[in-house]
Amino acid sequence: ADEPLVLGIETSCDETGVGIVRGHTLLADAVASSVDAHARFGGVVPEVASRAHLEAMVPTIERALRDAGVAARDLDAVAVTAGPGLSGALLVGVAAAKAYAYALGKPLYGVNHLASHIAVDQLEHGALPEPTTALLVSGGHSSLLVSADITADVRPLGATIDDAAGEAFDKVARVLGLGFPGGPYIDEAARAGDPAAIRFPRGLTGPRDPLYDFSFSGLKTSVARWVEARRAAGEEVPVADVAASFQESVADVLTRKAVRACRDNGVGHLMIGGGVAANSRLRAMAERRCEDAGIVLRVPRMKLCTDNGAMVAALGAEMVARGRAASDWELSADSSLPV
Ligand code: KG4
Ligand code: ZN
Repeated sequence: ADEPLVLGIETSCDETGVGIVRGHTLLADAVASSVDAHARFGGVVPEVASRAHLEAMVPTIERALRDAGVAARDLDAVAVTAGPGLSGALLVGVAAAKAYAYALGKPLYGVNHLASHIAVDQLEHGALPEPTTALLVSGGHSSLLVSADITADVRPLGATIDDAAGEAFDKVARVLGLGFPGGPYIDEAARAGDPAAIRFPRGLTGPRDPLYDFSFSGLKTSVARWVEARRAAGEEVPVADVAASFQESVADVLTRKAVRACRDNGVGHLMIGGGVAANSRLRAMAERRCEDAGIVLRVPRMKLCTDNGAMVAALGAEMVARGRAASDWELSADSSLPV
């Protein structure tokens, strides 16, 4: 039989994403971002995001269908992010997906945002090996998970207990007077810096700490204090060294715990997703540490790492292919949906 043709809608944060896939083949990936509208607030503002989703929804669906060159009536299913995420933002996507699926007479699949960050790698590298460990790091989440079945058995191993990794990048960039979102600016500034210049703390890596949880709030505070002390003493802040040393701490902790999770659980594959997967130091360190540990590393191209609709379509297509039950019309958004 033909592989399922699925349209996916993502609105959990600030990107309105509509993707279309046929099985593991990406046909369209239309994204409208409201990131510029949030920049002056230094973070995502929920009300602004919901409003932007509402305005972008229909045009983005139309654009995806046009890009894919498919007719809506040929779709096998409509998938949508049901959570976790910002509730008002999620609601816009869920309402749109329901209306669209109902009007077309197609089944509706509510999917988990974190699981779809993992499933998207199938569009890049083909069928996901099972089990696969996943490190998902963005402005909204930082999680380690093991997927034994992407449609039904994704187990969380750990997550951040305070700030998300991307949030830490954004806050440190602000302390250093760099732009928003901060990750790319820190990455760039760090190229000219010495990662060993300042030894910032590695959160939750002590012998009694939880193995797979993260904490970045202490690191952020430590960087802020270090910078403030320099400024108070009237000294110049070595921005490149601070950026490189901060980035080193984050990359070290993330890769150490991810490789550890693979080893402890006998998993031979690691995938990394989320916007922070763009970080050059994180990638380099993950490559080296995975190679040393005999782990196969999979990182999708950046456009697929950040929030998008194709990831939702990819997971929806997998659910159709594996004969999973569709959601009912009562499907609701759940801001804290567990995997
Ligand atoms: O996945 P994403 O686009 O949106 C969500 O947060 O869901 O991730 C955005 C986050 C921001 O915090 C941004 O600073 C971070 O990803 N980011 C990076 C880099 N590029 C984006 N962090 C570190 N290094 C980068 N090169
Ligand atoms: Zn995300």
